[in-house]
Formats: sequence, C-alpha cells, structure tokens
Amino acid sequence: MPTPQSLCLINNHFVPADSGNTFPVTDPATDKAIASVPDCGSAETWRAIEAAAAALPEWRTRPAPARARVLRTMGDLMLRDQDRLAAIMTAEQGKPLAEARGEIAYAASFLFFSAGEAERVYGQTVPASASDKRILVLKQPVGVAAAITPWNFPSAMITRKLGPALAAGCTIVIKPAEATPLSAFAIGEIAIEAGVPAGVVNIITGDPATIGREIFRHDAVRKVSFTGSTEVGKILMDQAANRIVKLSLELGGHAPFIVFDDADLDKAVAGLMANKFRNAGQTCICSNRVFVHERVFAEFAQRLRAQVAALKVGPGTHDGVQIGPLIDDAAVEKVASHVANAKSKGAKVTVGGDLVKVPDHANRFFAPTLIEDANPEMKCFSEETFGPVVPMMKFSTEREAIDLANDTPFGLAAYFYTSNASRLIRIAEALDYGVVGANDAAPSTAQAPFGGTKESGLGREGGHWGVEEYLETKYVSWGV
Ligand code: SIN
Repeated sequence: MPTPQSLCLINNHFVPADSGNTFPVTDPATDKAIASVPDCGSAETWRAIEAAAAALPEWRTRPAPARARVLRTMGDLMLRDQDRLAAIMTAEQGKPLAEARGEIAYAASFLFFSAGEAERVYGQTVPASASDKRILVLKQPVGVAAAITPWNFPSAMITRKLGPALAAGCTIVIKPAEATPLSAFAIGEIAIEAGVPAGVVNIITGDPATIGREIFRHDAVRKVSFTGSTEVGKILMDQAANRIVKLSLELGGHAPFIVFDDADLDKAVAGLMANKFRNAGQTCICSNRVFVHERVFAEFAQRLRAQVAALKVGPGTHDGVQIGPLIDDAAVEKVASHVANAKSKGAKVTVGGDLVKVPDHANRFFAPTLIEDANPEMKCFSEETFGPVVPMMKFSTEREAIDLANDTPFGLAAYFYTSNASRLIRIAEALDYGVVGANDAAPSTAQAPFGGTKESGLGREGGHWGVEEYLETKYVSWGV
C-alpha cells in the first residue's frame, strides 16, 4: 500500500495537531501500527469550523449544477482510485479487499446520487387566502454541518453525509472514527483534486469528547449527523439541546430475520449469509436474531450449517477470505461473551464458537458461529453482538414472530422471507423498523431512506430525504 495521507484537512491544507501529538492507527489483523495521525483538540476543531463558516457564503450561492459537478468528479475519482482506497480501508479496518472495493463503489454512489439531488432542491408556491399575498416556500442550506462517522464503513458513512450536505449547499467538518481516519483523509485528497474549494470539506482527528464538545459549542454549526452507538447518540442529543442543533442519528440495531414456512429457503439462506457475514457481522443492519418457522427449521438449519462452516476466515488481504478480523480486542471480548453466555444457558453451538488462530496474526479472528436453540434470555438475543454469530430460534405463529421481532428498544432494520403476498404486506406494516427487507436482505442503496425508529435514531440518509436533513424550510409571506 502506498503511504496514505495521515494529516488533518483544514481549509484545504493537510496539517498536524498544534501540539504535534499523534495517535497510532493499527491494522486489526496484526495489531501493528500502520500510521500515526494528529491528536487534535479544541483549537484545531475551532479552526476547522471557522474555515467551514468562511467558505459557506460562496458555496451555498454557487449554482446547483456547479456544486453537482464537483460531487460527480469526486465520485469519478473514487472509482478511478478504487483499488488504492480499498487497500487503505482493508489495512485500517480489516474487511476483505473485495468488500472494501465494494464499499468504495457504494461510497461513490452517494456522491453521484447527491449530485443529482443538488439540482432538484425545489421550493414551492402555495395559494394564499388573500389576493394581495403570495406564499413562497424556500429551501436553503442549514449552515455548517458536522459529521461524526464510524469505523465499520470508513468511506461510505462519510460520503453518505458529505454528499447530501454539499448538495444542499452546506459546508462540512468531519470527525472520522479514531480506528479508521486514513480512509477519511483519502477522501479529503479526492475532494481537493475534484475542485472542492478551501474550507468546504474539513477533516479532523483527535479526542472524540473534545471535538464533539466544540462542534456543539460553535454557533456556526447548525447540523450534526452521527452514525454510531445508541449510547453515544444519547450523549449527543443532550449536547445538541443546548443550542437546538439539528440532528441525524443512525444508531444501533438488533435486526430480526424471520423465515416463514412458505419462504423460498434457498433465497432466505443466501440472504442471511450475505447480510449476517458482511463485514464479519460488524454492521448496524445485519441480522442479530433469526426466527424460523418450526416446520422449516430443521431444513433451514441444515442448509445454513454447511454454508457457515464453509466461510473462509483470515486477513482481508488474503485471496478468497470472506471473514476478516474484528476491529479490536473489545469487539472480540463482546462476541466471545455472547457465545459464552448462550452456552451457559444451554445453547447448542453447531458451528464455530471460538477464535480462529491465524499464524503470525493477532487474536482477532472469530469463527462464523451458529447457535441453533437461542432464546430471549440469552445476551445474543437482547444486545447487538456486532460479530459473526447467528442465533436461531423456532416460532409457530405469525403473531409470535412479529412480537418477538418487535420486542426490542431498537428499530433500524428487519428482514423476512415469505412467498405469500398478503402476508408480505401485513408483516412489512407490522414490523416497527425504519428499514424492512421483504424477501431481500441487502436493502442499502443511495436512493432509499435509511434510518431507524425508537432507539435506533432520528432522521433518514439517502434519497431526497437525505438532502432534506441539510435544508431549512423558509416561508416567505409576500404582500403584492
Ligand atoms: C451501518 O451498518 O451502519 C450501515 C450499513 C449500510 O449502509 O449498509
């Protein structure tokens, strides 16, 4: 991998922390440092926000087609550099190279879609109740936006925020996860090459609490978009209250995956495999609880067992690997503790269940695991595991499946398989989730509204809904 950019981006300059302090970025597969990045604090955050505020007047008034062109160029450059960006991602995040390449294309799709949306930010006129009045509804950029992004999708979760923000005419300050800043800086380089003016995109790394505090303190920041844990989301909501900052929160999930007795089992197994084991199970929308109708349970479990056992585990850079390392030791501990807890409650672990030793690598590789008799008393059925573990349970009636699926404070994504059209719409309506996959386990796409209900968050990303989050609605009452 060529040496990646490892400095923060403020006002189109790559800069170190004022103190010169850095923190290491490690490869999760080896636990070895691959770079050090600036450990910034209040002063640098403040400067990044000031740069974004200074760039705002020109960017927000630049004609939409010109803003769209910049976004399209960024997308083109990401695809041009797909292999290089994927290599950076795999080095700092661990996911298999093929998945990393896929994520770069997914990340670029948010830029392309946002470019189109930039040109479709329509206002409205509304018939007034007096003949000497007109009602105009204007859509205007909210102001400086801040994006706080996670390590599990180091590029796509940035462009999913940056794209709509710039399309709306906002400028942005991005704080990537401490584990994966290099993918963010690479996007910064691409932004400059694409012609993004100074101050429109700024990227800053350092202590999350300090950077977060400054983001919510500075008057110019009018919008914060966060993807991460529900725990942190609640803290941000508290901080946002002080200045009533507009918030989008994409938080934890606990996705149910329901297989009815009339489902196409081949499709259901393929859907679960792709959905559950993407990114080694470290996604907010991957299935965390699998409910299978008692009539097809044995057949489904048998097919699944063979496929789970066949998954290839190893470093993301090795050919054919499907399951890379977990991000850090804490992640390994959590996954292991969920499996241990299930075993202590009598669970039958039919595949995996433990770490896989990879010579000369860190102890971060967890075997794809199947638990065939899970129940709601087990941690894996009440908390997000964020790892390659499939806990399954039988159900008998439709009502029981719906109740089990909705019995959680989370509401991000849910999936079910059935070949009955009436049941399909009934279940889709009954599931209390923001994203529902009906005979589909890969719902993520740039055009659709992505986001959760209940403690899984606020707001939607993607489609015109994603751009709407960065716009204010202004009503002009015009006396004529
Ligand atoms: C996430 O897990 O947070 C996002 C997954 C996706 O966009 O598909």
